[in-house]
Amino acid sequence: MKLWGGRFEEGPSEVFERFSGSLHFDRRLIHVDIRGSQAFARALESVGILTAAERAELVAAFDKIAGEALQPEFFEGAHDEDVHTLVIRKLRDKVGALSEKIHTGRSRNEQVSLDMRLWLRGEIDRSLELLAGVMQALLDCALRDPSAIVPGYTHLRRAQPVLWTHFLLAYFEMFTRDHERLTQARARVNVLPLGSGALAGSGFPFDRGAMARDLGFAAITRNSMDVSADRDFALDFVFAAGTTMLHLSRLAEDWILYSSEEFGWLELGDGVTSGSSLMPQKKNPDSLELIRGKAGRVFGDLSALFMTLKGLPMTYNRDMQEDKEPLFDAADQLNGSLEMAAAVVATAKLNAERPARAIEESWVVATDLAEALARAGTPFHQAHQIAGRLVLESVRTGKKPSDWTAESLRAFAPEFTAGCAAVLKPEEGMKTREIPGGTGPDHVKAALDDAQARLKQLRR
Ligand code: ARG
Repeated sequence: MKLWGGRFEEGPSEVFERFSGSLHFDRRLIHVDIRGSQAFARALESVGILTAAERAELVAAFDKIAGEALQPEFFEGAHDEDVHTLVIRKLRDKVGALSEKIHTGRSRNEQVSLDMRLWLRGEIDRSLELLAGVMQALLDCALRDPSAIVPGYTHLRRAQPVLWTHFLLAYFEMFTRDHERLTQARARVNVLPLGSGALAGSGFPFDRGAMARDLGFAAITRNSMDVSADRDFALDFVFAAGTTMLHLSRLAEDWILYSSEEFGWLELGDGVTSGSSLMPQKKNPDSLELIRGKAGRVFGDLSALFMTLKGLPMTYNRDMQEDKEPLFDAADQLNGSLEMAAAVVATAKLNAERPARAIEESWVVATDLAEALARAGTPFHQAHQIAGRLVLESVRTGKKPSDWTAESLRAFAPEFTAGCAAVLKPEEGMKTREIPGGTGPDHVKAALDDAQARLKQLRR
């Protein structure tokens, strides 16, 4: 069955049908397509195209099709051009001639936009929930080791001591912004395109506001040509998915490193790691590597969508059918990765003694020491020099920060005061960073409380 054909003397060639068909991927829109058509049947009743009895018959037939579509054999042998065509063919099988009225004053150009918006709205709701799950897992992870201290890195070199919670909350902030971006994308998705016709507006006086309410949309689109041409809402989502994947991939990379034998900070759960077919001792972080890998794939989806839309003349062009696979893929990879990341974080154990040893063996307290000197009156450039010389001397003689006492420090340089010696202990030095956003323990504690309250708010 075709939704067109009167103007043609010959049917489409086999190669063209095979080449242009989209059912094998747009079939996942079937339930939203049906939901949209049921709302459209109600709209057709309100403009007098359908009687109440006809509308009821159509809506009931759509319900049956939706039920049948849950069975895998439903799509077997279907060669329809797209999901919209398939649904109407199934409708004709059920209600016969009455099915001929359902597409009155409607175009597939608006229908496909409607379907994508309905589908994407549901996906984003799922993404938001899964993202909140990752954020919760990070907070739970922080609560398991509230006083653990780790070296923070720049250039992947030990830089300054920070609370483990502070590190975890950095990711919490990234995911908070991702949550905002997804919510903003949802708002652009949540606008009703129906009533736009092919490009010029429907020829029937539908109450578009009523249709929007029926389908749970917050607003209606303002320009019918824009509707046929626009896929910004999909771009917005894939971009938001992309930044979330970016952050997930950086978390993955950190945790791959931190769970390596070289770092030894984290023990990943057995359930999220895999072994080697040859090397019996291996416990590989495949879940995290796959998250990192899938991030690249989602960035590819964003590029693909941009490339598809670039330079298209107004309004709809069949090129736009190529929007669906990258969109679907981005949503699948995002939601799959979020679910996986939450499980990895939830089952990871911090071995706090290893990062503590890394701190002890390195000179991550050097900045605290230089700043203590500055606080005691030494100009910072000199303080930096003195602390640097102390590190050099320690490296030469194999001394750790804890090998220095107040007396030996003063003997090294008279600028050192008793207060300076105190910051050789990282937990003391960290107390000087009691500033909003810093790793001072009181502020971190408050930040953790605040994060918990914000997450609760987000989950409402
Ligand atoms: N399968 C088409 C798509 O995804 C639906 C819209 C068809 N419209 C048309 N004018 N051929 O874009």
